[in-house]
Amino acid sequence: MLRRPRRNRKNEIVRKLVQENDLSVNDFIYPLFVSSEVKDKEEIVSMHGIYRYSPQILLWEIEDCMKLGLNAFALFPHISDNKKDNEASESWNENGLYLSTIKMIKEKFPECVIVSDVAMDPYSNFGHDGVVENEEILNDVTLEILARMALAQAQAGTDIVAPSDMMDGRIGYIRKKLDEHGYTNVLILAYTAKYASGFYGPFRDALNSVPKFGDKKTYQMNPANSREALVELQLDIDEGADIVMVKPALSYLDIISLFRKNCNIPIAAYNVSGEYAMVKAAGQKNWIDEKRVRDEILLSIKRSGADVILSYFAKEWALDIVRM
Ligand code: PBG
Repeated sequence: MLRRPRRNRKNEIVRKLVQENDLSVNDFIYPLFVSSEVKDKEEIVSMHGIYRYSPQILLWEIEDCMKLGLNAFALFPHISDNKKDNEASESWNENGLYLSTIKMIKEKFPECVIVSDVAMDPYSNFGHDGVVENEEILNDVTLEILARMALAQAQAGTDIVAPSDMMDGRIGYIRKKLDEHGYTNVLILAYTAKYASGFYGPFRDALNSVPKFGDKKTYQMNPANSREALVELQLDIDEGADIVMVKPALSYLDIISLFRKNCNIPIAAYNVSGEYAMVKAAGQKNWIDEKRVRDEILLSIKRSGADVILSYFAKEWALDIVRM
């Protein structure tokens, strides 16, 4: 035999020499939940090791992460029910939980990068990502609300706005609004191919944002489709997205590599709550080697073509790297 592929697997050093992909702390965005309802922190039952933080304790958590080299955070708000309405008006209340927390983080740690969530569902009494009328999710009136929300976040000091709603035309609408107000340096990370997925369950527990009626299938994508993802990709690029995202990650690795072949801007992937919860649950039962499976999953996302990974595993992964 002239070709013996096993020679390149001979020992650890050779294997590492020929290794094609690697992970680094620089690849991660760590999602964090802030709440006005909790005293210090409260674990999310379906997401072992992930917490809702009070704003003050959140600062310590961020400081902790930054010591590990994790410097980018996706922040999500847990809003009390009495502040929710059909216009998501709490989302642009500058003294409200979310915007004041962004402001506080950026004052304390100007060098960290905050990715703020642009979507109505945490603030919506219907738990939907758009304005509701007769159980229908309205697209165009929602755009104005999203743009107002994005602008308020920019004014609070966010670095990246991340529309996670899937309304048509929102990237261009938000870009225009930000530019008109001089926020030309705020990036847009677009949830470009966001699928209507069962993997978001634990996240909705975390935010108490389960839809009050129906589901999100009239705006989030059908899991059966991949060509349609290219339509969304083209639109978001044309409308000015800086980074495009695929979500969830694991059942959609093919979409990530499809994006890699079809665009030259950075790609992010969201390793979502249900994907995290499955690994944690099986790990707790000792049915799998949790860390090994975690590392394999994260690497698969990178290998498929993602430049940026949003993952609840980011901190524990970074901690393990530091310990090694
Ligand atoms: C909604 C939003 C969702 C997630 C992020 N933003 C869930 C949904 O569409 O209901 C899910 C993230 C996760 O599951 O980790 N704007």
